[in-house]
Amino acid sequence: MSLNIGIIGLGFMGKMHFNTYANLKGAKVTAIADVDGRKRSGDWSSIGGNIGAAGHSQDLRGIHIYENAADLLKDQAVDVVDITLPTYLHARWAIRALKSGHHVICEKPMALKSSEAVAMIEAARATRRLLFIGQCIRFWPAYAKTRELVMSKKFGKVVSAVFTRLSSRPVWSWHGWLQDPRLSGGCALDLHIHDSDFVLYMLGQPRSVLSRAVKGAGGALDHVTTFYNYAPGTLIQAEGAWEYNAGFPFSMTFRIALEKASLVFDAQGLRLCPARGPVKPVAVEEGDGYFHELKHFLDCIRRNCASPVVPPESALRSVQLIEAEAKSARSGKVVRFK
Ligand SMILES: NC(=O)c1ccc[n+]([C@@H]2O[C@H](COP(=O)([O-])OP(=O)(O)OC[C@H]3O[C@@H](n4cnc5c(N)ncnc54)[C@H](O)[C@@H]3O)[C@@H](O)[C@H]2O)c1
Repeated sequence: MSLNIGIIGLGFMGKMHFNTYANLKGAKVTAIADVDGRKRSGDWSSIGGNIGAAGHSQDLRGIHIYENAADLLKDQAVDVVDITLPTYLHARWAIRALKSGHHVICEKPMALKSSEAVAMIEAARATRRLLFIGQCIRFWPAYAKTRELVMSKKFGKVVSAVFTRLSSRPVWSWHGWLQDPRLSGGCALDLHIHDSDFVLYMLGQPRSVLSRAVKGAGGALDHVTTFYNYAPGTLIQAEGAWEYNAGFPFSMTFRIALEKASLVFDAQGLRLCPARGPVKPVAVEEGDGYFHELKHFLDCIRRNCASPVVPPESALRSVQLIEAEAKSARSGKVVRFK
């Protein structure tokens, strides 16, 4: 079954999703809504981001173009609404899209506040529509492979893990919304959540968290380091930062010590350091996390089932985890989970 996609919000991620759908069989972007007239005309030169190619001109002939997202929701041809709007608009438009009868794919973080994420889940239940949250790192081939190896217990238990995600200041966003913590949740909710989410996905709920942060303008957490408390004797840590100046290269890395081997991931790819013998590159699937994530979500929609990889309740827990980390960073105290 071919699915018609309507994208709301044509910025860094809207463009990324648009290009990804072009490489997916059985999916076609048939509608786009954005408040920016230049982007609606196909001039995407102002679209920026910390990964991928710069903006370009895009031929939008044949696609229904709307200024107002509400008009896209009335478009009878659209099967799936893909929300790539700024985070503070996720809940409002996801709930409206569900209520207008659409299945919804929504970018991470699920919402600005966990209370809004709860309302999104309630709307999906009430309307019996499917809701998918783009926690793309769960699908990023090196991370997905790493989780598979860890869950297999082939190399024993996790002894320690350190995740990092570092970026220059996100100056590219629409009207600077990313740099306003009241609209984006700052680096903690926007960038660092990728690793918090992956820690949860791989290791489950920690007993408590202890975070330290550098605060930027408006009290935003621009640089956060968190210790996730699991079994005694283990050390699980993630660092996310975006206070670096322009030109600082984006990076995402991790190193994981297991009882019988270590795993390392950086720009050189995923490697396994066994107890004996040489370091081995680990083969992972081709493509990026966006491709595998959207392919999986569309497969779920065709089968009319929720995602077993990202049930929306699990994306809610990631927002709650970030709220706990922010509370810990602001209070200087350990935050425990019940
Ligand atoms: N998964 C990832 O790796 C990843 C990476 C970057 C961003 N994101 C997430 O994607 C979302 C979007 O971020 P971005 O970087 O693409 O932002 P952006 O600023 O580049 O784009 C936002 C777009 O929304 C449009 N817009 C704003 N209000 C609108 C409205 N009411 N109706 C229609 N269009 C409207 C703007 O014109 C702009 O084109 C955020 O939630 C962000 O956290 C995810």
